[in-house]
Amino acid sequence: MLRLWGEYELEKNAFIQLDNVTKEYPGVVALNKVSFTITPNDIHALVGENGAGKSTIIKILGGLERPSSGTLRVRGKDYKYLTPKLSQELGIAVIHQELMILPELSVAENLFLGQVPRFVNWSSVYERAQTILRRLGLDDINPKQPAGELTVAQQQMIEIARAVSRNASLLILDEPTSSLTAVETEVLLRLLESLRDEGTSIIYVSHRMKEVFDICNTITVLRDGNMITSKSKDDISSGEVIQLMVGRPVENFYVRNQPARHGEELLAVRDLTRRGYFYNVSFSLRAGEILGFSGLIGSGRTEVMRAVVGLDKYTSGEVVFNGSTWDKPTVARSINEGLIYLPEDRKSEGMFTKLDIIDNICSILLREVSSVGVISRKKTRNLSENIVETYSLRLGGLKTKGGQLSGGTQQKIILARALALRPKVLILDEPTRGIDVGAKQEIYRLLNQLTEMGTGIILISSELPEVLGLSDRIVVMREGYVVGELERNQATEQSVMDLAIGYAV
Ligand SMILES: Nc1ncnc2c1ncn2[C@@H]1O[C@H](COP(=O)(O)OP(=O)(O)OP(=O)(O)O)[C@@H](O)[C@H]1O
Ligand SMILES: [Mg+2]
Repeated sequence: MLRLWGEYELEKNAFIQLDNVTKEYPGVVALNKVSFTITPNDIHALVGENGAGKSTIIKILGGLERPSSGTLRVRGKDYKYLTPKLSQELGIAVIHQELMILPELSVAENLFLGQVPRFVNWSSVYERAQTILRRLGLDDINPKQPAGELTVAQQQMIEIARAVSRNASLLILDEPTSSLTAVETEVLLRLLESLRDEGTSIIYVSHRMKEVFDICNTITVLRDGNMITSKSKDDISSGEVIQLMVGRPVENFYVRNQPARHGEELLAVRDLTRRGYFYNVSFSLRAGEILGFSGLIGSGRTEVMRAVVGLDKYTSGEVVFNGSTWDKPTVARSINEGLIYLPEDRKSEGMFTKLDIIDNICSILLREVSSVGVISRKKTRNLSENIVETYSLRLGGLKTKGGQLSGGTQQKIILARALALRPKVLILDEPTRGIDVGAKQEIYRLLNQLTEMGTGIILISSELPEVLGLSDRIVVMREGYVVGELERNQATEQSVMDLAIGYAV
């Protein structure tokens, strides 16, 4: 399909050029004289550690933030900054991490959000929606269906469809696969490739090197707000990219220092059922063990864990913690006795966007920082400084507000907070989503350390290499049922996926 490049493309072969773009926030230089070029037919990966400045570039291109200095050249014309409206007119479409879907409205209304006139012929709107959906291979989505009924992956597809319906020439995706299953990821990547082949440029932000090297043509590495390199994929290896991002070589990515023997049983779940969600789920966890939970999104893993810690009720079954059977688990009891659950959704997990770092860190750590009911300001500051250093958090200072932190930094703080509670059993739901490679390794090291001290860990993760690399045993769920349990030495990507999808006999 012909796009809106005009003749300029032929002359200069550049769609967008960032020229010495700087963005300063109080206390932080988020971008420091960054320059690079996006050409047509380019899937351009933007990679870098948490806080490196990736989302800031996206906000600038989407017109949400203005550069402090520098120039944006779009199709040969110079701009000091863009507004959201101008950005859209120039053919830029941003798909943010937080999806912009109105759940009450139909798929078609979402697709043409802001484009549907007041008096419309609905049948023609549905027809147009159907055509676009079909073009993107989304035949199974009904345009009349409320968008809230769709899976996250489908909602994301609707956002892409929206961009396509507006003839966007640059599509920007900020960590698009972080909530997708392996299968959904594959579908998305192939769709992006076909859009690229039709002439759309794509900026792709991801912490997953495998994806980056799978689909990208060009890779730009940012570190601490500086552009380190911008190269064709063929001229750089993934090891080199990681080294440039982190500033040092990163080896032996998933290391599990498996203990010779696990300790006593800490948690036993027997025949747990929550009707409509999961059925007859049984598993046990010993001290010092990492038990992986694999399965497609929607297989019931999160629902099981929520019931175990008392966030949801269950219909029948038994939860035994530390040798005693819990009649009805409650959140308060779980936290008190050291059964800590870290949910996947960081917004609901109390990252207080208006509070500063110290208050965010200490909000659930009162036990650590108060003596006889008095909260010590000095202790809260020390503990926070400690956490900032241990996790190498990149921020303007302890006064920075939660909402001003990069996505990955928020995630790190939530994890650090949970670890500081010194749990007996720690249930982690997608703990490294949005976390950069260097920090991931740091987290894996901490998890190993925790198990050496006798903590039992349950790890829910959709990143197969992560589950395979870290777990001593893997429970696989499908559609609310446990469909298999694999020992570390039996588990391979193939054997886990076969169980999760249900091809195996
Ligand atoms: N509104 C703001 N006020 C102050 N500082 C901010 C604001 N927005 C971003 N920053 C800071 O700018 C830096 C770059 O953040 P950015 O969100 O671009 O990182 P990122 O590369 O997207 O990281 P991640 O991989 O964690 O998403 C960070 O240090 C962040 O704290
Ligand atoms: Mg970001």
